Amino acid sequence: MEDKIKAIEARVQEFVIDTRDKLEHFRLQFISKKGEVSLLFDELKALSAEQKKLVGKALNELKKFSEEKFKLSQEQLESNTAATTFTGDLTLPVIPGKTGGQHPLSLTRYRIIEIFERLGFNVEDGPEIEDDWHNFTALNFPENHPAREMQDTFFIEKNPDVLLRTHTSNVQIRLMKNRKPPFRAIMPGRVYRNEAISARAHCFFHQVEGLYVDTNVGFADLKQTLYHFAKEMFGKETKIRLRPSFFPFTEPSAEIDISCLICHGKGCNVCKYSGWVEIAGSGMVHPNVLRNCGIDPEVFTGFAFGMGIERITMLRYSINDLRLFSENDLRFLKQFKPVM
Ligand code: PHE
Repeated sequence: MEDKIKAIEARVQEFVIDTRDKLEHFRLQFISKKGEVSLLFDELKALSAEQKKLVGKALNELKKFSEEKFKLSQEQLESNTAATTFTGDLTLPVIPGKTGGQHPLSLTRYRIIEIFERLGFNVEDGPEIEDDWHNFTALNFPENHPAREMQDTFFIEKNPDVLLRTHTSNVQIRLMKNRKPPFRAIMPGRVYRNEAISARAHCFFHQVEGLYVDTNVGFADLKQTLYHFAKEMFGKETKIRLRPSFFPFTEPSAEIDISCLICHGKGCNVCKYSGWVEIAGSGMVHPNVLRNCGIDPEVFTGFAFGMGIERITMLRYSINDLRLFSENDLRFLKQFKPVM
């Protein structure tokens, strides 16, 4: 008898109830008056008092188990049909639920992508954990040169060096190495630098870099592209200014400033009373960088630029503390446009 109980239990367990017919089938087979479990109770009567005690317990458990399975499956089937046979008024407005919002950095990133997409730039992506070659060497940073210290780096391994990328220029290198020019691409992504956290600096932030390589790309193209970007991003009356600068991977290099959106040039504490705010680094791609990626600098030229998404977002929404972006404070995040 114990073997029988075990065998029936196994079949109860395996029985799949996914339709109303199968539910009824299960009921008849096991728990109805003539069902297998009920019939075992009849057999129990013939046993001695001693055995009854022992087998009875196992049998009661089987009965309970089968009935529970029946009940649960019945409930499940009912709730499924309720969901698929809704007969209410379908024209009623939906009950408003809580939708999340897009993070301000995402809103800015999408806007930047939108502006450059219309100029024919596509979006490229690359790894955040990078080797020294793609982050520094290919970009014309000489070994042991102080320029490497301009970007205080988090190393994961030394010799050979593995690190958290300090800029998204690694994606430029990967793009130029793996494909043939012409290129017109932007590379948004997260970057890391070992900086003390304050209102103006963080150990990670987001960049968008851009690269345009073709025959006959000149400095005027760089200037006009970034002027167009500034006007689209910050408004038609925005002006730009280029200041000479240095990056190992561009020559000549320029820092791009925009006219201050807050005081319109009169002087305020956002622009530190200069009337100008820096938004990007840029320059003509250094011939060594092109050569490192197998591109002939006698045939192709290009420009590159890089900007911080946090910086653009702070200017766009008048945000004065970088830490707000990563603290997840809903009072801050709720002020931005929700997802539609
Ligand atoms: N990679 C530079 C940085 O992170 C930005 C930059 C990109 C400057 C391209 C010039 C050209 O500081």
